[in-house]
Amino acid sequence: MKNWWKESIVYQVYPRSFKDSSGNGVGDIDGIIEKLDHIDSLGVDLIWICPIYRSPNADNGYDISDYRKINDEFGGNTAFERLLKAVHNRDMKLMMDLVANHSSDEHYWFQEAKKSKDNPYHDYYHWKEGLPDTPPNNWESVFNGSVWEWNEKTQEYYLHLFTQKQPDLNWENPTVRKEIYDIITFWLNKGVDGFRMDVISLISKRMEFTSVPETLPFIDVMEQYYSNGPRVHDFIKEMNKQVLSRYDIVTVGEGPGVNLTHGPKYVSAAEKELNMIFHFDHMTLDFGPEGKYDPIPIDWIYFKKIFSQWDKATANDGWNSIFLGNHDFSRIVSRFGNDNTYHDASAKLFATLLMTLRGTPYIYQGDEIGMTNIQHPSIEAYDDIETRNAWDAAEKEGKDMTQFLKAVHRQSRDNARTPMQWKATTYAGFSNSKPWIPVNPNHTEVNVDNQEKDPNSILNYYRKIIAFRKANTTLIYGSYQDLAPDHPHLYIYLREDEKTRFMVVHNLSDSTINWAPQDSKYKMVMGNYEKTQEGLLHPWESQVYRLDIA
Ligand code: GLC
Repeated sequence: MKNWWKESIVYQVYPRSFKDSSGNGVGDIDGIIEKLDHIDSLGVDLIWICPIYRSPNADNGYDISDYRKINDEFGGNTAFERLLKAVHNRDMKLMMDLVANHSSDEHYWFQEAKKSKDNPYHDYYHWKEGLPDTPPNNWESVFNGSVWEWNEKTQEYYLHLFTQKQPDLNWENPTVRKEIYDIITFWLNKGVDGFRMDVISLISKRMEFTSVPETLPFIDVMEQYYSNGPRVHDFIKEMNKQVLSRYDIVTVGEGPGVNLTHGPKYVSAAEKELNMIFHFDHMTLDFGPEGKYDPIPIDWIYFKKIFSQWDKATANDGWNSIFLGNHDFSRIVSRFGNDNTYHDASAKLFATLLMTLRGTPYIYQGDEIGMTNIQHPSIEAYDDIETRNAWDAAEKEGKDMTQFLKAVHRQSRDNARTPMQWKATTYAGFSNSKPWIPVNPNHTEVNVDNQEKDPNSILNYYRKIIAFRKANTTLIYGSYQDLAPDHPHLYIYLREDEKTRFMVVHNLSDSTINWAPQDSKYKMVMGNYEKTQEGLLHPWESQVYRLDIA
């Protein structure tokens, strides 16, 4: 079935790092308004804005202390109303980030909940009785350390899958669910066009809280113990029925631990849950035996297989989200491409990939100019709680910290959180005072200003490939077939409907590869190199061919 959100191009804004209009070094809503023309100029239809609600910022807004208030540092509720209007005036839509698996410990609910066992808010969270030094089980938080925090007042532990400042909400309690639905309704009635739902796969807990085997890799712990709990689909269905289905909106759930077994159910049109989900099968491909900070090279055969399997799983019912980066991962061009010799080509290759696979494409701010990872000389310059906690844990475990710093360079979430590079000037035109997080020194070269002037820039390529996708519905709804699943570096696929067939080919390597379409009826219609050469693909070259069937 056709839907507007299937045809949309999404642009993700990380507000702290996008544009500071007030001059305090922190991005804000008026900054976003100032730059809406930039977003619009790409051909974007839908903006997803990371959490901007009131928050003590233990995890940059993913710890909400008031769900109905926009944080003053971003401009408060009036600035948000202005943004929503400005977005709609440009015929774009706006999707908010809903963090409903946990609240901030500074939320009124938790402030009350921790006071006594008979407080009406107590049951809004998960509690376990016990002794101060004996946590109820051995579960590790996503950000290291136990998931259990002791609360002296009630002589109980509370559960937090993330930091101790993010207590998990108890979705078993119908009053909690009602609160969440009311919050959703509040924003939808203001005209918001949808929600990205933070870690939605974690909302239903396995209430027996069984300990995990010590040797089980964290990625499996996530999948088998934390994610896809017994009532997750009931909860989402209820939310859909009671609120979501009453509006013409878009929903995308973030799904850590969601794999091919569970994934399709979340997005099946028949099940009436969510429109799309972000799974992480391809985003954890470089996690080594010891996890994220033990990186290994990308296996491209496996990478392709993941896209093919998910396409197949949702081909008849459901829809995919196509993304390669966001505020939680390092930069696309540094992680999957080559941010050195082939910066330009590989950034454009991944733009081509995003726009030619079946599913709704998500662009993360800065990727449209090929922003890269950053390498701070020491841990002090890193802000992210996840990176810092992982560092402390590694130190405790006696790891080789020189090696670990290299892994941080590659994997830290701060790679994606450096300020947006607008200009070559001090602070990259992001702010006129020192930003909350250091600017990448390469902003003098990699910036929007420079790329506006160059017709062949990455930025202008994004515009071109987006327009190309929009002009060809085959690239939106057409079937997908991988033609060379076993090739270690070539990704060749067909996108096809009754009238048109596209063949897309990408060289995922630093080497030239001999290749040509076997049928001369294929006409090349798009590519990321200015000069192509018959019979070969340059390093990180993408080519798109068309064959008219009817
Ligand atoms: C999601 C967010 C991430 C946050 C976490 C906890 O994974 O994308 O930034 O830290 O949830 O809310």
